[in-house]
This record gives sequence, structure tokens and C-alpha cells, in this order.
Amino acid sequence: MAKVLEMVGITKVFPGVIANEDVHFDVEQGEIHALLGENGAGKTTLMNVLYGLYAPDGGELRWQGKPVHIGNPNVAIRLGIGMVHQHFMLVPPMTVAENIVLGAEPSKGGLLDMAAAKKRVRELSEQFGLKVDPEAKIQNISVGMQQRVEILKALYRGAGLLILDEPTAVLTPQEVTELIAIMRRLVEEGRSVIFITHKLKEVLRIADRVTVIRRGRVIDTLYTKDATEDGLAEKMVGRKVSLRVEKDEARVGDVILRVRDLTAANNRHLPALRGCSLEVRRGEIYGLAGVDGNGQSELIEVLTGLRPATGGEAMMNGKSLLGLNPRAIFARGVGHIPEDRQRRGLVLNFTVGENLILGSHHRQPFSVRGLLQGGAIDRRAEDMIQRYDIRTPGTKTLARSLSGGNQQKVIAAREMERDPDLLIAAQPTRGLDVGAIEFLHRRLVEARDRGKAVLLISLELDEILSLSDRIGVIYEGRVVAEVPGHEATEEQLGLWMSGGSTGRRGEAQG
Ligand SMILES: Nc1ncnc2c1ncn2[C@@H]1O[C@H](COP(=O)(O)OP(=O)(O)O)[C@@H](O)[C@H]1O
Ligand SMILES: [Mg+2]
Repeated sequence: MAKVLEMVGITKVFPGVIANEDVHFDVEQGEIHALLGENGAGKTTLMNVLYGLYAPDGGELRWQGKPVHIGNPNVAIRLGIGMVHQHFMLVPPMTVAENIVLGAEPSKGGLLDMAAAKKRVRELSEQFGLKVDPEAKIQNISVGMQQRVEILKALYRGAGLLILDEPTAVLTPQEVTELIAIMRRLVEEGRSVIFITHKLKEVLRIADRVTVIRRGRVIDTLYTKDATEDGLAEKMVGRKVSLRVEKDEARVGDVILRVRDLTAANNRHLPALRGCSLEVRRGEIYGLAGVDGNGQSELIEVLTGLRPATGGEAMMNGKSLLGLNPRAIFARGVGHIPEDRQRRGLVLNFTVGENLILGSHHRQPFSVRGLLQGGAIDRRAEDMIQRYDIRTPGTKTLARSLSGGNQQKVIAAREMERDPDLLIAAQPTRGLDVGAIEFLHRRLVEARDRGKAVLLISLELDEILSLSDRIGVIYEGRVVAEVPGHEATEEQLGLWMSGGSTGRRGEAQG
């Protein structure tokens, strides 16, 4: 197969970090090539070099066999390279069609020809099965659809090589399946795709070849038919990792959290929780499975004081949590690893050290007579950084500049160190790499073994299945089924999650 692209000995240095070191990477025509590596491995940097956003400090690029200099993205686009960034770059108040043609508008006699633009958008979207509504405004469409708009935008500009930077991180399992079909259609047509991820299963499911990078260097490039999950994990992390969670039989105690017939509305004032009931006991991990949007977020918000309930009860150690503010709820012994870590979990412009003691900062020894004690904060933070394996230059680094995985470790460290009776973990490993996932899963199991109650809410069935002692399925605002973790199967849970059959809730609850 012909090589469309070769990156030869690419080096890119940032102050204090070698983000890419002598990287060799190539892409054949008609292949899906996965670029696999942990957070911070250098994947995005390498792609930014390719797309003309960064000038490399060494090495060269060849496009269809010839050396090229890609000094800016316009050159990349002209060559036929398209990039869908991890954070989308769409203009929210504009329509889908307007965003797609922006900067490359067709014109007729010097006037913008929106009709022609819409027609072309429709053609492309049919050709590749990229369902979008050209008239819809970006601000009103789902993240999955925004991603399709970004892909269309690249195709509209004639991309023959499409770079997708961690495209599945923001998608539901169903959307991932759709995206895979789209990628397949692209390569069937002779285009090529660079698919960036840190998820091993996706590599094996989607890619033809995979290049593993670790700390800026290429570790290996291989055909996925010759690769295994364990083998890739080891190359990616640099040591053997256990993808399965080791845990002993749960020693279950009293009920810590009792939710009964809970009702609440969503942001659009429609019923989101419609009589939700569940119990989490001391010493168990209760996994709540469900398709996104079935009331999970509202349940978490009610339990953490961020949303009022409209009926029912939520009792913690026999006392109601309803009507309390977040601080009062935390004082009752609830810890929360939130879904949206940037918005809810961290103060991005505070340092790592400050974030680690957030919530305890008004207490001794961190605050004495209203004055923050820098020394005490630093010592505590340094200890936590070490024990939770948080990769940061220091305690004074701003939380904003840490990678997603390390931001999540900061939150997990803070919440677990407060030693709450109930830990609510909402998508705790979303967007994290294998090493960080393994680490967080172990900490959750440890919390359970110390007799804590853990409520795990996750869209990842794998995560629910590997951690939970009991599993509940939430569908349209109700727990419709419950099973012991060791009896659950993916197929059965999937059926319940789609409202397919009634569960055995009565039986399981006994
Ligand atoms: N603009 C930048 N300035 C300084 N350091 C950066 C910049 N972009 C990335 N880095 C650093 O380079 C390394 C690789 O980052 P990145 O390419 O984003 O990794 P990945 O995409 O694999 O998660 C990290 O240590 C990161 O902190
Ligand atoms: Mg990246």
C-alpha cells in the first residue's frame, strides 16, 4: 500500500518537556491507523506538528513520498489533511451548514451561495452516513452531532487524511458505533484516518495498524491483528497492568444511603427522576448502569445538594439529605467525584495544593484564625501527590495545566482523604488512560473494603461490571432492575438499559 504520509524523526520540545522525541510515524492509503498512548504521551502534539500548528524542532514530513513543509493549517488543508480537535472549534450561534463552509464559502458572482453550500453538505452527509441537520444551530445539537459537523467540515475541504483526536471520549456507546461505521466508509473510499485514543479495546475494534507512544517516543508500530489488549497495555504504560480489578468478597453492612420514590425535574422542567429507589450499604460498590440521559445526572445532583427533589426521600444514615446545601451534605459524610471535573470538581485557577485541600481549607491546620497556612497546605499536598501518583511539576502548579487524568486524581485524592461514609463516583474514569483507571479502580475497591458505601454511576458497562457488587439499571428515571454483580451479563444489562424487559428488582431486593 502506498504511504500517504511519513513523519521522519520528529522532535518537539516545550519548556521542560520533550513532547515528541525522534518520532517515526507513517500512514498508508486506505487504513485506519490508531495512535495510542496515555494522557500526556505526546499524541496531540505530534498531530499539531502534522497539521501545521507547531513547527517541529527536528525531523521532516513527507507527503505522498515528497518532502513538504507545513508551516500552517492552510498548507495542511491544501494537501488534503483534515483535523478534528479534541475540543471542537465550531461557532455556537451559527448553523451546521454555515459552520461547515466557514472560510471556504462557495460564491456566485461574488455573493455567498448558501444554497450550493447546503446542497454539498447534504451530498457529503449522505455519502458517508453522517447524519446532520444543516439548518440546526450548533448550540442546540448534541456533542455527537457536533463531531459529525467537524468531520463534514474537513471532508468539505477535501480531506484525504483525517485526524480524529480522541473522538470517542465524548460519545455514548451508540454514537461510538456510528462513528466506527463512518470511519470504515471513509477508508473504503480510499481515504485514511488517524484515530487517536488511549482505549485499548477501541484500537483492536477499529484500527488496521497501531502506533504506541509513551513519554514522547514511539514504542512500537504493529498490525492490530497481531496485537492483544494486554500486550498493548504494557507497551503503553511501560509495565504490566492488570485490566481486571482484583477484589475479595464484599463484607456488606448496614444501609448507608436509602433513596425511595425520588422525583426531580431536569433543566427543562420535565420529569427526570420518576420514582427512583435504591439502597447502598456499607462495604459495597453499587453500580448504576444506564444510557446517558436517563436521570443519572439529576440523581447525582439531588444527592449532592445541587438540585431540589420534587418528592420522595433520600436518607443518609437515617437522616434526610433533601433540602441541604452541598456543604451541609459534605459535612454529613458524602464525598463526590463529579462527572464534569473542570466545572464541578476543581477551581482551575487555584494551585494543585489549594485544590487538594479545598473544602477543608477553613479548618486547622490549613487555616489558623482565618489565615491560610501555606506550609501546612504544601506538606499535606506533597504527601497526597505522592500517594495518589499525581503527575505535576509541584504543589504550586495551577490545576488548569494538569492533564485530565491528573486533574481527576486530584479530585479523587481530596474526596477519598476526607474519608466520607458514602462516596458518589460519577463517571470517575471518563477520559482517563489505563494506568489512571487501574489506579482509581483500586482506590474505589479500597474505600469499599474500609467499610465505605460507594455509589458508582457510569456509562461504561465494562467499568460497572468489573467493580460492582450489586448493579442497578436506571431507565427513564427509575431503577428498573437489580442484580448481584457476579450474575450480571453485558447482554442482559444492555436489554434493561434500553427498556427492553422488566428486571428482577423485587427478587434481588428481597
Ligand atoms: N503548548 C504546550 N506548551 C507546553 N507544554 C505542552 C504544550 N502542549 C503539550 N505540552 C506538553 O507536552 C506533553 C505531551 O502533551 P500532548 O501532546 O497534549 O499529549 P497527549 O495528546 O498524548 O495527551 C505533555 O507533557 C504536555 O504537558
Ligand atoms: Mg491529546
